Amino acid sequence: LFDSVELAPRDPILGLNEQYNADTRSNKVNLGIGVYCDDQGRIPLLKAVRQAEIAQTEAAAARGYLPIDGIPGYNKGAQTLLLGKNSALVAEGRVLTAQTLGGTGALKVGADFLRRLLPGSKVAISNPSWENHRAIFENAGFTVDTYAYHNAATHGLDFEGMLAALDKLPTQTVVVLHACCHNPTGVDPTLDQWRKIANVVKEKQLVPFLDIAYQGFGEGLEEDASVVRLFAELGLTMLVSSSFSKSFSLYGERVGALTLISASREESTRVLSQLKRLIRTNYSNPPTHGGTVVSMVLNTPELYALWTQELTSMRERIRAMRIQLVEKLKTHGVKQNFDFVLAQRGMFSYSGLTSAQVDRLREEHAIYAINSGRICVAALNSRNIDYVAEAIAKVL
Ligand code: LMR
Repeated sequence: LFDSVELAPRDPILGLNEQYNADTRSNKVNLGIGVYCDDQGRIPLLKAVRQAEIAQTEAAAARGYLPIDGIPGYNKGAQTLLLGKNSALVAEGRVLTAQTLGGTGALKVGADFLRRLLPGSKVAISNPSWENHRAIFENAGFTVDTYAYHNAATHGLDFEGMLAALDKLPTQTVVVLHACCHNPTGVDPTLDQWRKIANVVKEKQLVPFLDIAYQGFGEGLEEDASVVRLFAELGLTMLVSSSFSKSFSLYGERVGALTLISASREESTRVLSQLKRLIRTNYSNPPTHGGTVVSMVLNTPELYALWTQELTSMRERIRAMRIQLVEKLKTHGVKQNFDFVLAQRGMFSYSGLTSAQVDRLREEHAIYAINSGRICVAALNSRNIDYVAEAIAKVL
């Protein structure tokens, strides 16, 4: 039966993680996967999460099946993070959310739904984009093209190229946009640029699919939702995939959400019924633990306040690492200007390192980065940053 099965290529991110785990060198550093580690190099268990877990354990609640679309309080919390406390759209019943298996699960459910709705449409992702974007949409049956995004020469945004590319897309093309903290580059448009992008999306009747996996890691929870709110204010119907993996440090709990903004309450009811069918025939309903924890934090004022403090510390630590990396590269004699790292936001830096340099970092220094040159700044700490800066200086 399985004779003809070919060996699939390794996943560019999770496959590298497997390689890192198997590496026995004691000085190894993992700048590959997008995971936040504290200054001790550990994935933190947030205090807000811990307190919610303790309360949950003490409540000894039964673990029955959740509704197909997940925990109502979780979904409501996800909507509030995206659209704010007093959203008119939510009040009008135009916003519907399903708890999903991480941000990846949200993209997958959304992609399957769109594929049925728009069988003649293509998908456009940024060049470059998160490696899994292309794979998810191709797996759903779409042809995936790219729009211009990153300018390697300036290490910034190719804004003109991006607008021109979007302008050329056929009506009803699904456009995947990173609402904040672009993965892999860390380069985001300014709010003014986003206004122009949103206008093109509206004029050309494109279908925006906003991916917001790093809300809170750019400027703050509210600030990072500005792009979603901007698109919503233009009256656009759209899809949004959220991830709480990073913001709650709950990677293995698969906590994400798919939110759709429709044209009316009645439309929302129909759309949600179809999403529920897709979910039911895929994984039936989401798991309880992580979702309950997130819901409890989002809906308990003291826990929410504690969580936002912890998120702020994570964001500020990453910023501090960006500053130190740039300084230490200079200390180690690097002549190229790396100041662009300071302007990037979120967990990642598109470092400009070539694939050959990334190979040397791994082979000679046990430092793992993605082949594209993406490094996870959130994995740098006061113990490894000197070593990393020195190694980068050597491979440059
Ligand atoms: C990443 O980009 O490294 C993260 O989003 C983890 C993943 O699933 O790829």
